[in-house]
Amino acid sequence: MSRNRNILLLGGSGFIGKQLAFTLANRGWQVTVPSRRPHRNRALLVHPRIRLLEGNIIDPANLQELCNGQQAVVNLVGILHERRKGDFRRYHVDFIKTVVDACNAAGIRRLLHVSALGADQASGSSLYLRSKGEGENLLHTFGQRELKVTSFQPSVVFGKEDNFVNQFAGILRWYFGYFPLACPNSKLQPVYVGDLVGRIVNAVDDPQSYSKRYPVCGPEVFTLRQILELIIEALQLPVRILPLGKGLSQLQALVLQNLPGKLFTMDNYRSLQTDNVCSDCELCETSLRQYIHGLSAMFGNKRNYDSFRRDYPRSGSPGDHS
Ligand SMILES: NC(=O)c1ccc[n+]([C@@H]2O[C@H](COP(=O)([O-])OP(=O)(O)OC[C@H]3O[C@@H](n4cnc5c(N)ncnc54)[C@H](OP(=O)(O)O)[C@@H]3O)[C@@H](O)[C@H]2O)c1
Repeated sequence: MSRNRNILLLGGSGFIGKQLAFTLANRGWQVTVPSRRPHRNRALLVHPRIRLLEGNIIDPANLQELCNGQQAVVNLVGILHERRKGDFRRYHVDFIKTVVDACNAAGIRRLLHVSALGADQASGSSLYLRSKGEGENLLHTFGQRELKVTSFQPSVVFGKEDNFVNQFAGILRWYFGYFPLACPNSKLQPVYVGDLVGRIVNAVDDPQSYSKRYPVCGPEVFTLRQILELIIEALQLPVRILPLGKGLSQLQALVLQNLPGKLFTMDNYRSLQTDNVCSDCELCETSLRQYIHGLSAMFGNKRNYDSFRRDYPRSGSPGDHS
């Protein structure tokens, strides 16, 4: 049904976008993914129905060109912290106007958008959440008649290339002793990337989803501290969590936001002041707890490697097991 239909993924080279690109391509869509750094995303090219292009989608003329000939667009562009003041507005709000204009000019009738759980223009606890909420409101105001819009509001998303479990696991592996954790009691309801992508793909051709905004959450609610403890247990690390109170959490954010990489900012701190959970949405199935149990294999735990070497026959010949 989707054979030879074209879909443009804005932000399709990111963590969620890549998974979405493969799933759509497997369903027969011709997928176009523009990227500022296509050389970093060559893995996408293994699929014959995915086209990876170099482009600056923020430039309206460039975006317009990309939209021509497409039947649908998915917008996944988003940032967690500003490099320059005003970036949240630029990418989460102004860019939405550019996308809607480009879709209308190209005669595109379907636009799907990935927002965030807790996004709220008026009451979001951080600039990230307010700007995401404003962008979503804009989209649902402008995209009504000709352009059918749907938004997804995921809680934190986990999966093989995420910036969440991977980031914490990556840091904790090099840690020893007490790990000072900001906002340890913030609640999250992590959702597996494959489940989120499944929801997006199913919605593309579903008229029931037009004009809807869907919160997307996994089956379990955890505090941030519980998630880190699961990682520590799975990787058998010599680390214990040192939960920070409000003042020290803010201090940590103030320090880290001024270091390269901006691992944690004051705006991230503010986002974590609201519980990131769904009260009445249809839950996705994949369990973070089970996923994390498989982490030791993913991270090549040295203990596993050592026992593998110990148990495996020393001879190089596969037939030499005697
Ligand atoms: N991951 C989560 O846990 C999570 C949770 C809730 C909501 N979301 C939302 O889901 C969406 C996708 O998230 P993700 O984790 O997949 O993001 P990601 O891995 O950081 O990817 C972001 C994508 O946006 C593009 N992008 C970023 N800044 C850009 C800019 N200045 N100009 C042009 N393109 C830019 C990047 O393209 P290039 O190849 O050009 O760099 C990349 O493809 C975002 O809107 C995010 O807010 C994510």
